[in-house]
This record gives sequence, structure tokens and C-alpha cells, in this order.
Amino acid sequence: METTTKLIFGQTLSFKGNPFVEGVDAVQHHRHGAVLIENGRISWVGPAENAKPPANAETHQFGEKLVMAGFVDAHLHYPQTAMIASWGKRLIEWLNTYTFPEEIRFKDPQYADLIAKRYFDLAIGHGTTSMCSYATIHPESVEAFFAEAKRRGIRAYTGKTCMDRNAPDGLRDTAQSAYDDSKALAKKWHGVDRLGYVITPRFSPTSSPEQLEALGALWAEMPDCLMQTHISEQVEEVAWVRELFPDARDYLDTYEKHGLLGAKGIYGHAIHLTEREKARALETGAGLAHCPTSNTFIGSGIFDLKGLSAAGQRVGLATDIGGGSSFSMLHTMAAAYEVGQLNGTVLHPAELLWLATCGSAKLLHAQDQIGNLAEGMEADLIVLDLASTPVIAQRHAEADTIWEAIFPTIMMGDDRAISNVFIAGKLAPKPVG
Ligand code: GUN
Ligand code: ZN
Repeated sequence: METTTKLIFGQTLSFKGNPFVEGVDAVQHHRHGAVLIENGRISWVGPAENAKPPANAETHQFGEKLVMAGFVDAHLHYPQTAMIASWGKRLIEWLNTYTFPEEIRFKDPQYADLIAKRYFDLAIGHGTTSMCSYATIHPESVEAFFAEAKRRGIRAYTGKTCMDRNAPDGLRDTAQSAYDDSKALAKKWHGVDRLGYVITPRFSPTSSPEQLEALGALWAEMPDCLMQTHISEQVEEVAWVRELFPDARDYLDTYEKHGLLGAKGIYGHAIHLTEREKARALETGAGLAHCPTSNTFIGSGIFDLKGLSAAGQRVGLATDIGGGSSFSMLHTMAAAYEVGQLNGTVLHPAELLWLATCGSAKLLHAQDQIGNLAEGMEADLIVLDLASTPVIAQRHAEADTIWEAIFPTIMMGDDRAISNVFIAGKLAPKPVG
């Protein structure tokens, strides 16, 4: 816990509501703003002239830079860090060719530690301060992730990825071992510091009905945990699920039948949902993770973000590393914008920023802790340079409004736009190398 009191000056951006519902009125922007941080939490946000710095406050001046909540990545696979940008395959072949051979390596705890460290360096360097990651089938991969997150004081979520079929030797567990290992890891890590355990059946094609049943039973025993899986990412995958589960009404039903559908569930991709699945997801409050760079990179399809949001579905934003092609949530917002355009819809920058912070935090049921620059929240902050490269700077110079000032960074920004990162009120060191 950081005990230093800090007063941070810059432009500030907070959400008072949801811009998908209230438009830009949901946003509070101070051109000259200030944020007070005490004991690792935000204790005040407002116009700089109203700031009352306590005598012991450490002051940080960020001038024209934009201070906002750190990004929250609602779905990714940290073990796929080293195989990001693998060429030329669609989902199932991509998994078999690139992903599974890489994930087998996480049996070695030293390799898991190495990649966990690399992942957190990259994520933080790109302004991501909380994340919900898959691990691999190996408990070692969960240990490595949580140990590293704990060391850095990060709010982070993961779970052992469970698969007992349609995966290679060395990358299968069983229904019983998935239950036992997941339970032991959840008991050890869930609620420690800022860490949360996520029950993680990879997706219906790689879990037998018995394994789904066992993990559904575990979720019923530990309902405080999140649950994450994939759904309806590619048409070939949906057809395969239909063959594997002939008695299920549809893909979502393969989860519901086994106790794996609920408001604490995060369902990645959700592109090819039927009307029944959409209605059922809405009824149960299931969370949908939009992974736009992955959906274009692997050729999965167009997620109907505007339509689903307007219908009241809970949606967050995610990189889906390494199916996704960038660690940057800015880049991911840009991809969401472009996919929206292909779908005949236009996303406002306020909606994009909300998705990458509050929206994802809500998916993690952590909206009272993270995802907004507001009193009482944990002080995970980023400082954005809105003129971080020559091309962005020259466009930014022409901006008349805050949205015109921010949009070039959303569309063209990357880790160079992330000037500083505060985690629980503490300035994160710049990653080296
Ligand atoms: N479906 C099942 N596993 C995966 C994965 O690792 N990445 C993506 N994009 N989809 C999946
Ligand atoms: Zn995924």
C-alpha cells in the first residue's frame, strides 16, 4: 500500500455515466484538472483551482497531458505473448499450429515466470493497469501470473485453462484434475491483495460435458469467482460445437446446461450469436468481451457492438493477445471504431474510452474499484500524451474540442502515448528493453 499523498495536475477525464446511454454528458472533463491520491486511492478529482493540497502532498505536473483511469483488458491470454502475430491461419488451425505448442511450454515454471514478467512489462507500458487473462492447463502458469501481479500491486484476474479433449498430449487435464487444481488455486489466490481467480473452461470444443459439469459445480461452490470462456467466434467453430453437443439448443446452451452461464461469466468474442442466445445472455446478465483486433486478425467476423449495447448487453473491450494483434488498448479502440464503421455504425471517442475502462471493469464486477477517475476508486491512472508522435501532434494542433484532441491518439496512438502509469497510487517504473 502506497502511503504517500499525491496531487496530480493535468487535463482530467472521468465518467459520471455511460456514454452509450447518455452521450457525451456522461463525461466530466477538466481542462485544468487535479487528482488527489491518498493511501493508494483517489480521494478527490476536480478543477485545479479548487485543489486543496495537504501539506505533505507530493505534486506531479502533467500540463496538457490527459490523466484518466488505466485501461482494463477484459480478455487475453498472457501465455500467448511470445506467439503474437502468427501468420496465416483461421481459429482452429491457428490454435493447433501456433497456440497449443506454445502453451505446452508453460509446464516449466521458469518459462512461465519469464513470460509473466514480460507480459506485465508490456501491458503496463501500454497503459493497461488491470486485466483478466487465461493461463494454460498448468497450475505453474497461474502461480507465475499471480506472483508477478502481486509483486507489482496490480488488480489482476486469471485461472487455469481447462481442456480435456481435442488438445495435444501435454495439454490435456481431466474433469477431476481440472476441478481439483482450479479449486486449490482459487483457494490459494482468490482475494489475496488485488487478485481474483477465474474459473476457466477454454471453450466447449476442448472440454468434455463431464469437465464442463465439474467446473459448473465448482462455480456454484465459489460463486464469488468470475468464470471465463469463449463463444461463437468463428462459423466453423460454431458448427463443430453443434456436432459435439447434439442435444444442446445452441453454443450458449452448452455452457448453461452445465451451470456455466451467469452474470459473473465473461464470454469472449460472441460474434455469431443467435437471437435466442442474445436474449438469454441479456436475461442472465452475461458479460461479452469484444476483441476487435483478434476478430479481424483471425478473420472471425463483425461483433455488433452498437446493436448489443443498445439492447442492454454488458460489453467490455479486450486485446485477446495473442489472437489479437496488439497489446495497446488504444489500438484496440481504433479497431473497434473501424469494425463499427464496417458495420454501418459510428462509435464516439467517449464510448471507446468508456468501453476500455468502465465497460471492462463492469465485466470484471470491479467497477467500484477500477476503471474510473473518481473518488474512492483504487488509484490506477494513466497519463496520456495527446501529441506523442509527429503525425498525431500535427493533427492534435488542429483540434477544436477535447474529442478532436483525443481521437487522433485513439486512432494512431500506441505505447509512446503512455507517459506515466500509476498503480494503486504508485508511479510504475518505465519498463526497460
Ligand atoms: N478459442 C479457444 N481458445 C482460444 C484462444 O486461445 N484464442 C482465441 N482467439 N480463441 C480461442
Ligand atoms: Zn481468447
